[in-house]
This record gives sequence, structure tokens and C-alpha cells, in this order.
Amino acid sequence: MNKITASIVGASGYAGGELLRLLLFHQHVEVKQVTSERYFGKFVHKVHPNLRGQTTLKFCSMEDLQPCDVLFLCLPHGEAQKRIDQFLLLAKRIIDLSADFRLQDAEVYRLWYGHDHLKPELLPEFVYGIPELHREEMEKAHLISSAGCNATATILALFPLFKEGLAEQERTVVEVKVGSSEAGNKANEGSHHPIRHGCVRSFKATGHRHQAEIVQELSFQGPISVYFSATAIEMVRGVLATCHVFLKQEVTEKDIWKVYRKYFTNEPFLRIIKERDGVYRYPEPKLLAGTNFCDVGFELDASAKRLVVISAIDNLMKGAAGQALQAMNIMLGFTETMGLEFPGLHPI
Ligand SMILES: NC(=O)c1ccc[n+]([C@@H]2O[C@H](COP(=O)([O-])OP(=O)(O)OC[C@H]3O[C@@H](n4cnc5c(N)ncnc54)[C@H](OP(=O)(O)O)[C@@H]3O)[C@@H](O)[C@H]2O)c1
Repeated sequence: MNKITASIVGASGYAGGELLRLLLFHQHVEVKQVTSERYFGKFVHKVHPNLRGQTTLKFCSMEDLQPCDVLFLCLPHGEAQKRIDQFLLLAKRIIDLSADFRLQDAEVYRLWYGHDHLKPELLPEFVYGIPELHREEMEKAHLISSAGCNATATILALFPLFKEGLAEQERTVVEVKVGSSEAGNKANEGSHHPIRHGCVRSFKATGHRHQAEIVQELSFQGPISVYFSATAIEMVRGVLATCHVFLKQEVTEKDIWKVYRKYFTNEPFLRIIKERDGVYRYPEPKLLAGTNFCDVGFELDASAKRLVVISAIDNLMKGAAGQALQAMNIMLGFTETMGLEFPGLHPI
């Protein structure tokens, strides 16, 4: 089989670097170009030392991009929509990892991002990048917008309950704990080591933009309300989402098992983690570092008709590069798990 060509825009960042790590070992992909405006002309291992000896690629500038089969965009928010016309001339298939094309409704976009979208007509053309929800659309897609990492952890935790109509539409409370790599490689005052080290910092108690994606994707049976908060903790990779779901009716633990098994059993990257004893009774992000899994567990508080659903992912993998590669595999008709089979490290 001939290899397809893929290029990465913004490849010096954390998501771009992770994507490069994956694509270099994908048997049907040749990585054609990787861009960085800061490092163009330099070998990629200068920025991503884990790739030393794995490739002789050098970064190029965005201006030097040539046509390719698939173009991955790993730019900060707002940059993809500015340049999308140029990118569409270069590749028929685009996977954007930023938030630019995740929301389908331009008005919702304006509400959450505080400005008008530059290309509102393109929003409905992008398929939202969670394969477990949009696999069939992805098979026919040319444009995919990868999902937010916190949104991915939350949506994968909750979609079976909303699909089955078990959860109250009006109130679901989600708290995510996130690692430092979620903020990208640009340093700021808060990321300075003496300040960031050891922190448990509530940085977005309300108004987190991923809330809009979660509502968009979980409103299967009419609009829902989600109350979402985010806390930065001492961790480099990972998201742990704790979701408090209020149930419409009394259910047993057996009922919940049945629902999750229905949606998870055939999913290669979704696992139910719920043990009776031991250390690893529930999902834990550090065990997923470098993997594309999303682990989900639950505990029923029957007296309150409350279900606590806990999910974990690696934000740079199932939350970004891994999920984008999974989407590419589906879009191009490759085996969905290709290049993503790594089981993770233990202990780590
Ligand atoms: N980190 C995560 O966990 C995660 C998860 C899901 C989605 N995402 C999304 O993926 C995208 C990349 O995230 P990241 O964490 O990899 O960010 P990052 O580490 O900051 O990397 C972004 C890259 O884009 C380039 N860039 C920066 N400013 C630019 C500008 N004004 N114009 C053009 N290029 C610019 C930079 O490369 P040069 O300056 O060298 O060109 C930089 O390396 C973001 O939109 C983010 O929201 C991130």
C-alpha cells in the first residue's frame, strides 16, 4: 500500500510533538513537513528530544508548506480560522486540534469566545472529533475538529447516560483536575516552576469554554445544563473528570453496568474501571500516560439518585494527538487502532 503524506502545522508545540511521535511510527503515513515559526531550519529533536534518532526532519515555515494528503493543525486558538483558506488549498483533508471549529453554531461560538467567528460558513462542515460519537460521519469526512481534552473526558464519561435518557437534563456537575501540559508550551507567570509546583489551583470555577462542547455533544434528547469547573494539579499529563449525575429514576448498580457495557464493549479505547478492592479501583490518569485509552468508572449514591462517574485520559493523547490519529484512521479507512496500541507504563 502506498503511504499517504501528512504534515503538521504548529509541530513545535506539545500536541504537535505528540502527533509527530505517533505519525512517525504509523505504517501507512509518511510525515512530509512539520512547521514552526520559531525553530524553522532546526532538527525536530532540538525541540522534541524524545525523537532523537527517529527522524531527520527539520521544521519549516508555514509559508513553505506543500500539498499533502492530510494536514494536522496544532495552532493556538484563533490561528486556524485565520489561515483556513490557505490550508484548504494545500490538503483535501484537514484535522484541526484547536477549538476553532468545534462548535457548530456561530452564535454559540460568539457567546463563549467573545468574538464573531471568521469563517462561520465552515462550522457545519467540520465533524466533531470524538470517534465514539461520530464514527460514521468521520468515514465520509474531509474536515474534522478534534475535541477539547476536558470535553473528551467528560463526554466519554457521560454519553451512555444521556443517550439512554437516564440523567436529568437540568443539572450535571463536573469537576476536572488537569495537568500542566494542557496549557501548551508557552510559559507564563503561573507556569513558572516555583509557582506551579505542588499547586491545587482552581483556575476556572465557572465559564470554561469546554462546557459549550459538552452541552453540544450530550444534548441527545434536548438541551442539557452542565456546571463545569477546572482545577490545575501537580501532574504533567492527564485529566481526571469527576461527574455528578442526578438520575431521573431509581436504578441499581446492575442497571448502570448494563448501560456502560452496551456502549463500551466494542470500543477499542474505552474501558470500564470499577474494582471491588485494591489500589486501582477507579480510573487514574497517570496509568494512561502516552496511551489513547479513556477509562471510566462509577459509584452509585442510591439514596440521592446520584451517580458519580469518574473518567481519566492523557490530555495529549485521547485528549489531542491520539484521538486525532484515531480520527484520521477512520477518515482514511485504515484500521482504527493503527499506531495507537501502546498499553501504557507501570509503574510510572
Ligand atoms: N495541550 C493540550 O493538552 C491540548 C489538548 C487538546 C487540544 N489542544 C489544542 O491544540 C492546539 C495546540 O496546543 P498545544 O498545547 O500544543 O500548544 P503549544 O504547545 O503552545 O503549541 C502551539 C504551537 O503553535 C505555534 N504558534 C504559537 N503561536 C502562534 C501564532 N500566533 N501563529 C502561528 N503559530 C503559532 C507555536 O509554534 P511556533 O511558534 O514555533 O511556530 C507552538 O509550538 C491548541 O489550539 C490547543 O487548544 C491542546
